[in-house]
Order: sequence, then C-alpha cells, then structure tokens
Amino acid sequence: MSHLSQERVLSVHHWNERLFSFTTTRDSGLRFRSGQFLMMGIEVDGRPLLRAYSVASAHYEDHLEFYSIKVPNGPLTSRLARIRPGDAVYVSRKPTGTLVLANLLPGRRLYLLGTGTGLAPFMSLIHDPEVYELFDEVVVVHGVRTVSELGYSDYIRNDLPANELVGEEVRAKLRYYPTVTREPFENQGRITHLIGNGRLAADLGMPALAPDDDRVMICGSTAMLRDMASLLEERGFREGSSGDAGHYVIERAFVS
Ligand code: A2P
Repeated sequence: MSHLSQERVLSVHHWNERLFSFTTTRDSGLRFRSGQFLMMGIEVDGRPLLRAYSVASAHYEDHLEFYSIKVPNGPLTSRLARIRPGDAVYVSRKPTGTLVLANLLPGRRLYLLGTGTGLAPFMSLIHDPEVYELFDEVVVVHGVRTVSELGYSDYIRNDLPANELVGEEVRAKLRYYPTVTREPFENQGRITHLIGNGRLAADLGMPALAPDDDRVMICGSTAMLRDMASLLEERGFREGSSGDAGHYVIERAFVS
C-alpha cells in the first residue's frame, strides 16, 4: 500500500441527502495539477476500497477536498457518507486526468461545464491563478436536477470573489451559471440544450461557442460527455489530450 497515504478527515459537509463533501489532511509530498483526480477511499473488510475522485481543493492548499454523491448501497459511497472528522481515508500518491490547462490550446474564454459532482475539478481550477492568466473570461456552468444539488453555489457567488489570492481576478473574469432541470429556477434546462439553442450565450451576453476563441472542459455522466462532445465536434472543436492540446477536454464522472 505504499502507493497510498493514510489521511485524516478534517471536516464533513452534507449538502443534501444525495451529496456531501469533506476535507482531509494532505501528504506534504503530494503534488497535483488543478483539475486532476486521485484514487481515494476507506478500508473495507481489511482492504482499501478506492474510487477515482477529482480534487476539489486548490493545488496550493494544505488540505484536500472531495465532493461525492451518496449511492444508496454503493459499496464505497454509502460507507464514505458516514465518515466523521478524525476518521482515516486512503489517498493515492498518483494524480492523473485530462482536465488540465496544458491539454488546451491558447484561447480567450474558458468554459467549465459540469453536471452533478462533475463540478469538483472546476472548484480546484477556479482557485488557480494560472487560469486567470491564460484566459480573459472563465465561465462555470453547473447543471443539476434540483436547487439543493447546487453545491458550492453560495461559496462561488459570495466567498470566492473575496478570496485573498484570486478574488480580484474572480471579480473581473469569472461568470457562474447554475442551471436546474427538475425544478423551477432562474436558469433551467440541460447544459447541452442551453448551448444548442443559444440561451447560455444570450444570458451571458457572449458569442455562441466557437473554436476560434473558446476552450471547454467537460465533466459529468457518460451521456452528458457524449452529447456535449458531439455538440462541440459539430461546431469544429477538436478534443485535446496529454501531449496533443485541443479545443476541449473531457473527464468521466467518477462515481456512479
Ligand atoms: P435531467 O434532469 O434532464 O436528467 P445526474 O444527477 O443524473 O448526473 O444529472 C445531473 C444533471 O445533468 C441533470 O440536470 C440532468 O438533467 C443533466 N443531464 C443528464 N444527462 C444529460 C445529458 N446527456 N446531457 C446534458 N445534461 C444531462
């Protein structure tokens, strides 16, 4: 288990009956890039039970933060949802993932499109000063079923703009667009529909998504990734990967 470090839970926050987040200690030797994920889990029947989790905290924080759904009877998440401060979790020492700035070509605008817990890697990215050095505008679009699933909404609206390190850049460059599909809300509809019918661009006062200026990171369910990718491909976007930067990058949602 030398590829794993044992960390302690520092705090747990339950957003609703389906979602929770928690922070842990961080091994001082662990390095990761904003947007990457790690294997993380707890000991079950004497062995570590791990799943891939995006790191939601910034790469420079001395703790780690994770954002998780609770799957009823899910082998890991049903147990993980019961963790408390002081409990042990295992964290791999090998971060990986495609949602990193280096996989994108230079551009003017960065769209971070996430559904459900697919917001997690973007929470890390929007704390990274490099994001604001590379892009004139950064748009976080978070699609969820119900209003109570808009995790981090208050934080993005109220706390992040006052952040010591990136607050000024956030106030100047970050746009946050939450959208809900199964309840009334100020913005309604799937991200794919809102892009396809021009609603997102109109609401933001921005031009329609185009590969000349726009770069996109996508994180969500398999169906959402497939639909988003084909929408972008139809508009001439090319997918990027490690060593071959492109107009957009995708990551699978991790726990389902
Ligand atoms: P919907 O309520 O219409 O299914 P989930 O919790 O199932 O991952 O869903 C999170 C959000 O992603 C929901 O708003 C859901 O909308 C939306 N969603 C589900 N499938 C897709 C898809 N193929 N493309 C875009 N959004 C999707």
